[in-house]
This record gives sequence, structure tokens and C-alpha cells, in this order.
Amino acid sequence: MQEDALALFARAGIVVEESELNSRRLIVHSRDGRFNFVLVKPGDVPTYVEYGVADAGICGHDVLLESNADVHEPLDLKFGRCKIAVAGKREVVGRNYNLLATVRVATKYPRIATEYFHAKGVPIEVVALSGSVELAPLLGLSDRIVDLVETGRTLVENGLEVIDVITESTARLVVNRASFHLKRAAVGALIDQLTEVLEKERENTKQTIGSYD
Ligand code: PRP
Repeated sequence: MQEDALALFARAGIVVEESELNSRRLIVHSRDGRFNFVLVKPGDVPTYVEYGVADAGICGHDVLLESNADVHEPLDLKFGRCKIAVAGKREVVGRNYNLLATVRVATKYPRIATEYFHAKGVPIEVVALSGSVELAPLLGLSDRIVDLVETGRTLVENGLEVIDVITESTARLVVNRASFHLKRAAVGALIDQLTEVLEKERENTKQTIGSYD
């Protein structure tokens, strides 16, 4: 995510020197001095932006849903495409939920999982994990998982199948609500710069596809 985000900024002319990126500094600067980049884990981006210590950030829609942070989400950046899905062993696929029995779900997304099962009226016990979630049904730690699916390879190679897709996700530009108004010119310019790159690239892709006709 961080590499894709920095690559997008570079294509928009907002370049961070390699030497800065190769350092261990957690705050780096764009070559033109216009931007300071704070390098944090994707899951922490909504927090930095919500508290306003960063005016804007980039993270997945999945991360935003899970954080429930109160931030503005003005731009879909189209990369980092994935799904958040319920999955399980083949034998549980298609099996109806028993509304009187608690389903045990392992996940890195406790909020998303809880909201999904509550909306169905199914009692849920969340087993919170921080990675390798696909192991849980294999070892009998959970009945199902709620996890990110990108290519689907991890599920297949562990004998699991998608039961339901909860949401699709892509990378989003998020902006602090106060900054969106108080720094309207700078934030607006950034949104315009990124939008221009995305539209130009979408146009180029269309033309490339068209040339095969
Ligand atoms: C994510 C996710 C799945 C895997 C899905 O894990 O939690 O395990 O990627 O990718 P796929 O559909 O392309 O196989 P990540 O790589 O972030 O590692 P983690 O399990 O340690 O969180």
C-alpha cells in the first residue's frame, strides 16, 4: 500500500527521494518541500488523520470501515483492490446459520465481522488474530473467518472457500474534516493533482484496450 501510494504521488509530480525512503526516518519530505509524509502502518492511518496530526492519508476502505474513524473520504484511488469475505472449510459453505448458536469467527476485522453477523441476527464470538487467519478453521480455532481476499490463493491453498463477500475495498484518500475546510486550497489542489493522474491513466488504459479491437 505504501509503495503504491508513493508511486502514485510520484506520478503526480510529488516525489520523495530514494535516500529519504531508504532512511529509518518516519517523517520524510517531498522534493519540492510542499509535503511531509508520515510513514505509519495502514491500520493507523485513520487515527493520524482523524486526530489531525496528518491532514490527509491513504489507506484501504477495509481499514476505514474497521477503524470507524470520522474522516472525509473524497477520492477512490483504485489500487489495492480486494474483498473482505466470510470464508470457511468446504463443509460449512452453504450451511445455514443456527440463530440460537454462537458462530465463532477468527478475524483481523472484529468490527466488520461483528456488524455483519449482527445484521443477520447471528450471535458471534470473535477470535481476534493479527495474521495468518486462514489457520483458524484448519486447527479448529474457529468455524469461519472474516478476512481480506485479494487473489484468493491463500484460501485455496488452505482448503477454504468464500462463503459471502461483505465488501469490496480499494485504497482511498482520506482527509481530516477540519483540514478539508481550513486548508481547502491545499487539499483541493492535492485532490485535483491525484484525480488528474488517475483520469489520464484510465484514459490510456481505455485506449490501449481499444487498440486491440
Ligand atoms: C492477507 C490476508 C490473507 C491474504 C490474502 O494477509 O489476510 O491472508 O493476504 O491474499 P490472497 O487472496 O492474494 O491470497 P497478509 O499478506 O496481509 O498477511 P497476514 O496473514 O500475516 O496478515
